[in-house]
Amino acid sequence: MREIIKLQVKARKVDTDISKCRTDLLVVGMFSGMARLDKFCSRLDDKLGGTISRLVKLEDFKGKEGSSLLIYGTSEVGAKRILLIGLGRKNKTGLDTIRKSAGIAANKAVSIKAEQITLAIHKAFGGRFALPDIGRVCAEGAYFGGYRYDEFVTDTDEQNGRKESLLVEVIDSDSEKLAKLRKGVETGMIIGQAQNYARTLANRPGNVINPETLAAEAKKLAKESENLKCTVFDEKQLKQKAMGGVLAVGAGSRNKPTFIVLKYTPAGKKADKLPTVALVGKAITFDSGGISIKPAKGMGEMKLDKSGGIAVIASLKAISQLRLSVNVFGIIPSAENMPSGTSYRPGDIVTTYSGKTVEIDNTDAEGRMILSDGLDYAVKSGADIIIDIATLTGACKVALGKYMAGLMTNDDKLKRQMQNASKLAGEKLWPMPSGEEYAEEMKSKIADLKNTGSRWGGACTAAAFLSQFVGEKKWAHIDMAGVDMFEKGTEFSEAGASGFGVRLLTTYLMQVSAK
Ligand code: BES
Ligand code: MN
Ligand code: ZN
Repeated sequence: MREIIKLQVKARKVDTDISKCRTDLLVVGMFSGMARLDKFCSRLDDKLGGTISRLVKLEDFKGKEGSSLLIYGTSEVGAKRILLIGLGRKNKTGLDTIRKSAGIAANKAVSIKAEQITLAIHKAFGGRFALPDIGRVCAEGAYFGGYRYDEFVTDTDEQNGRKESLLVEVIDSDSEKLAKLRKGVETGMIIGQAQNYARTLANRPGNVINPETLAAEAKKLAKESENLKCTVFDEKQLKQKAMGGVLAVGAGSRNKPTFIVLKYTPAGKKADKLPTVALVGKAITFDSGGISIKPAKGMGEMKLDKSGGIAVIASLKAISQLRLSVNVFGIIPSAENMPSGTSYRPGDIVTTYSGKTVEIDNTDAEGRMILSDGLDYAVKSGADIIIDIATLTGACKVALGKYMAGLMTNDDKLKRQMQNASKLAGEKLWPMPSGEEYAEEMKSKIADLKNTGSRWGGACTAAAFLSQFVGEKKWAHIDMAGVDMFEKGTEFSEAGASGFGVRLLTTYLMQVSAK
């Protein structure tokens, strides 16, 4: 089995004359719509015999955001190659522009088998963003773009000669700035690694990751971290606890359901004085739809139906390494949704962990069934705030497309906090409605609830169903059905699992911890 690329990010002090910087690949950002090259580029351009100014004049490179162009060094410059990266219009760029640029650079470096890239931070960014934030997003972006999922590919041409590791450097000539950048780089490395860990777990198919092997991964993670504890309920314990939602969904598969609890307790602090946040993640290791089976087209993508649960596991990995000052419960109900003679069926009435009964209208609305037990467990565990994340509804993907996850919440302050975290994390959320009218649709005549609403507003009725299990707690729900994967590769990512949610949840908890 092959390992994914090992990445290392560090901050390096360099001479003020950038053309002297020795590296495999020097990465230089350029804004669009600029009348002339900035000082930094001009110096490089002189040593390159005017190559940059010529290609700008020819309009072969316009600085459009997301664009890049590789040019080669001369004997006059220290860099073997130079990658120009478009930053878009100067007044529009944000931290995510920097993150994506680092991603584009690392993606390129891995593709051309470079062993080292050097990111020169644009002077304009230094004035606009805090240096630790810049360091952080550089590291996050580099990890994101340098990622390859190839653990089951044996010996292809593509892999022959692929470098084992990539060194990513963030440079500056000022040691004071460097120290601040370095601090951010350390944070970004932890988050970037956690996100790639999430992508690998999510990319693994259903014959590798099932509820039990996922639980084993969580146990392994906890074993490696002093401040994490993992408890797993197996099917027998699920029956003892009467977790009817998880049991019903898991009934059709020979892979037994599990319920994973990862608990983070900050060391050396008065943990009982700190708030407790519960993260609840849906981990359906494969969603065939069950008896209400899905059409064949694209069904394989449903191996990614565990992405919410995995985002929670990976966020706990990051939180544990960042040693945040907040108590966190990771609650991950897990099952495989399969059709068989032992499956739960449409028409069944299921008694959930909370005692509430649910009439099953469609076995493909399984996420909310396992989450109902997860949310109720979070309430009973005494959490102050509950956040769930799930690839819950195709309706959310239809509504918002591939770029944003839906956000539903019963608390305005939590909504603002999530939106703030989303901005810094570069993982987009869009607020969606839920509430009474939608909840009305989820009532059953023969049970307390049913598991589907009408044809309309499927993401909103699903959220209204979940809201029945959070009591009076402050709660936010993230429907990440549209953003769990990249269908095709992009400039900064290969196709496959996106690891969405890791940066968002970790950032939110960093902000809770900072208070
Ligand atoms: N896992 C799916 C939702 C999904 C769809 C995720 C597309 C990612 C991409 C979920 O379990 C599901 O099947 N939901 C149903 C609910 C319906 C039966 C009420 C759906 O969205 O069709
Ligand atoms: Mn489903
Ligand atoms: Zn599902």
